[in-house]
Amino acid sequence: MTAASHLQPAISASDGRLVPGTDALRAQFPLLQQSIHGASLAYLDNAATTAMPLDVINALRYFETQHRANIHRGVHSLSQSATDDFEQARTTLKEFVGASSEHELVFTSGTTESLNLVAQGLWAAKPEGAWLQPGDEIIVSGLEHHANLLPWQQAARMSGAVLRVLLPDAQGRIHTASLERLLSLRTRVFALTASANATGERPPYEALLNLASQAGAMTVLDAAQAAGHAMPVLARINCDFLAFSGHKMHGPMGIGVLAGRRSALERLTPLRLGGDMVTEVRWDAAEYAELPSRLEGGTPNVAGAVGLAAAARFISRVGRRAIAEHVHGLRAQALRGLSCLPDVTVLAPHAAQSALVSFVVRHVHPHDIGTLLDEQGIAVRTGHHCAQPLMDHLGLGPSTRASFALYNTPEEVDRMIRGVSLALEKMR
Ligand code: ALA
Repeated sequence: MTAASHLQPAISASDGRLVPGTDALRAQFPLLQQSIHGASLAYLDNAATTAMPLDVINALRYFETQHRANIHRGVHSLSQSATDDFEQARTTLKEFVGASSEHELVFTSGTTESLNLVAQGLWAAKPEGAWLQPGDEIIVSGLEHHANLLPWQQAARMSGAVLRVLLPDAQGRIHTASLERLLSLRTRVFALTASANATGERPPYEALLNLASQAGAMTVLDAAQAAGHAMPVLARINCDFLAFSGHKMHGPMGIGVLAGRRSALERLTPLRLGGDMVTEVRWDAAEYAELPSRLEGGTPNVAGAVGLAAAARFISRVGRRAIAEHVHGLRAQALRGLSCLPDVTVLAPHAAQSALVSFVVRHVHPHDIGTLLDEQGIAVRTGHHCAQPLMDHLGLGPSTRASFALYNTPEEVDRMIRGVSLALEKMR
């Protein structure tokens, strides 16, 4: 089979909806309308960052040219318009993540800042005592990228807590039974990804979060890789903190979110101390404001928030289920094609709910594959994907990763498979 028949593109649905993989949808993304090395660009590095649609670009342009002003500070009209835009963006994103009345949403610069805010905010001293004390335990899944590991290493060092790793099996799967064995009366934090960036593994995070929460731990879910196609619904999961980035869901770079239970967010010591996060300041002390301002000190990335809300609306307009089915189909097609090539091993081949395929080729370095694919206009990522301990644990070395989004097509996947085949012929 060449182009997957179940993914045949229609121009657009009769109701005017944009359909994943169609020309009409691709036309919304100026970045994709270019050639690289004389070939049309096949952008398959969406796990690293995604392209922005015109809706987002136009929302940014409108804000910057019509409403740009500092927020929460001015009585003048522009400041009020900018404040309204920022708070409307918060409302849109709360809806997007399925927040309930018990949840609050804080803007950050991205997943990395969100996770650092949680980790540091839980060990930093508070008058009533830090959440993490010497001898406490932090459990981190072994699927994590560095942004959901390093902050916990630091939190353990600073608080005297012990860091435990919930290791995946040889195929890269995480099991609830393994977590049950690790949980103890001292477990205070459990952090894991909703979708592993290096392998595509989709852990059973609902069940894992439940177990950890029942054991009394704060639960942290990194949704960076899920945001574009499978955003978890906050109200349906046992999650204290949910982190994601704008640029992995067709929004701007430099904006992200930390959402979660208000009671959990209130436990965090603010890291960005300064303007707009206080109610009263004296020479020697200050009263911090309520959430969300309390965790958003300084001038935030207002345009970023506006752009991110436009991205969320775009995803909803296309339809989450349609996007998920589309990227799962592309991933299945890639898996079938790559599995037929000699000496190719696909990581986590069972991960059917993934939007990416990560593979190694015996005796061939992924950078060589990536470079030869680039010469054909095909963009993929190669290396350890900022998840070195996981890649070391799986023992297969660095990989080549093709990751898919709503605008990718079966033809692009075929080009990638042919490109890898050609690259291997060339190198042998
Ligand atoms: N975390 C990003 C990736 O997986 C940068 O490529």
